[in-house]
Amino acid sequence: MTATGPGTATGPGTASVTGLLGEIADVGRDARRGGYSRHGFSPVEGELRTWFAEQAQRRGLDVTTDRNGNQWAWWGRPGRGAVLTGSHLDSVPGGGAFDGPLGVAAALAAVDQLRAGGFTPRRPLALLVFTEEEGGRFGVPCLGSRLMSGSLGADAARRLTDRDGVTLAEAALDAGLDPARFGRDDAALAQVGCFVELHVEQGRLLDRLPGTPPVAVASSILAHGRWRFTLTGTGNHAGTTEVADRRDPMLPAAAAVLATRRALGSRPEARATVGRLEPTPGGTNVIASSVDFWLDARAPADAEVHAVVEEITEAAREAAAEEGCELTVRQESFGDTVLFDPGLRDRLAAELGGPGAPVPVLPTGAGHDAGILAARVPTAMLFVRNPTGISHAPAEHAEPADCEAGGRALAAVLESLAGGGS
Ligand code: GLV
Ligand code: MN
Ligand code: MN
Repeated sequence: MTATGPGTATGPGTASVTGLLGEIADVGRDARRGGYSRHGFSPVEGELRTWFAEQAQRRGLDVTTDRNGNQWAWWGRPGRGAVLTGSHLDSVPGGGAFDGPLGVAAALAAVDQLRAGGFTPRRPLALLVFTEEEGGRFGVPCLGSRLMSGSLGADAARRLTDRDGVTLAEAALDAGLDPARFGRDDAALAQVGCFVELHVEQGRLLDRLPGTPPVAVASSILAHGRWRFTLTGTGNHAGTTEVADRRDPMLPAAAAVLATRRALGSRPEARATVGRLEPTPGGTNVIASSVDFWLDARAPADAEVHAVVEEITEAAREAAAEEGCELTVRQESFGDTVLFDPGLRDRLAAELGGPGAPVPVLPTGAGHDAGILAARVPTAMLFVRNPTGISHAPAEHAEPADCEAGGRALAAVLESLAGGGS
């Protein structure tokens, strides 16, 4: 079946993907940064979770929340071999409207389309919303799927703190969850036959292909880690402190930031970014007493990520010694290179593309819950064309027609996977 062509109308009683996105367009807007700030375990995320639960219930799905705060909406009875689809509703600070919500909206729209076509799943089918995928509040990305799969321990998770010093355990309690129940959820995972996540593409690979196809299937995700660097010097007066008396941690921090670009010079497929830097106390006329910054590093191979981080750490260490500052470096998260299930990948690409013309199969540098679950269950991803490639920013965009093509593609995939075939 070919499901990605433009212009297929959705029938009566079926919501469009963009219509669903429109319903949450005003939730969590960030007036200062632009875009959205929708963080895990916050009232804004709570509002989005309530919206999802209501949408699912309106469709007759049974909504439950698992021990780690992920939402499940079952079409029919829960059970083993289930076909799951979904994504997340949280965002980075000042993020776009599509990263996460597009996959959730497409999942709801796909249910409508399947129903309208008279489809009844023969395998259990559920929609899934993961919590705190971006790590925008507690620092560790894909928190819900990491906890579920056991790749993040419950004790370590409960101790995570946000920028205001609130622990994840406290935030979870505030959000009505019991953090004592956090942890690897083998019972939930045992139900999963496969998971398919639809997502806006976070680059321009699709848009650059001839014919700019609206939908692709994912092949792989870069290995990815986050490190916290702390440089400690001496807080002092900006106007009176002579150069010889300065121990300014901002200098080695700056040297490390510059080293991120140098480290990529000989590694075209690697990525290294410092997107967050916090001087303490943070006064214009104050030499900082310390500077914290976070390094996000990615590459096709795990070893390459570590080589990049080592090179940047060495630059920070040298510059810290020169300035008389101390450096500590702590890894906050790591995820190995992900290769999506090859059988599922090829099947979906072939089925969505039609005879002899599979849809494109593309790698990505962005992390996803599907990538975390890939270590435990067969997973696949569908990407929807992003005409500018911009993501994690207010300008993130996908054309409405492409969003609907994504919804139809997801419906076709669910029909194939849950319809009783192998
Ligand atoms: C999440 O989108 C990430 O890649 O950091
Ligand atoms: Mn993201
Ligand atoms: Mn995402």
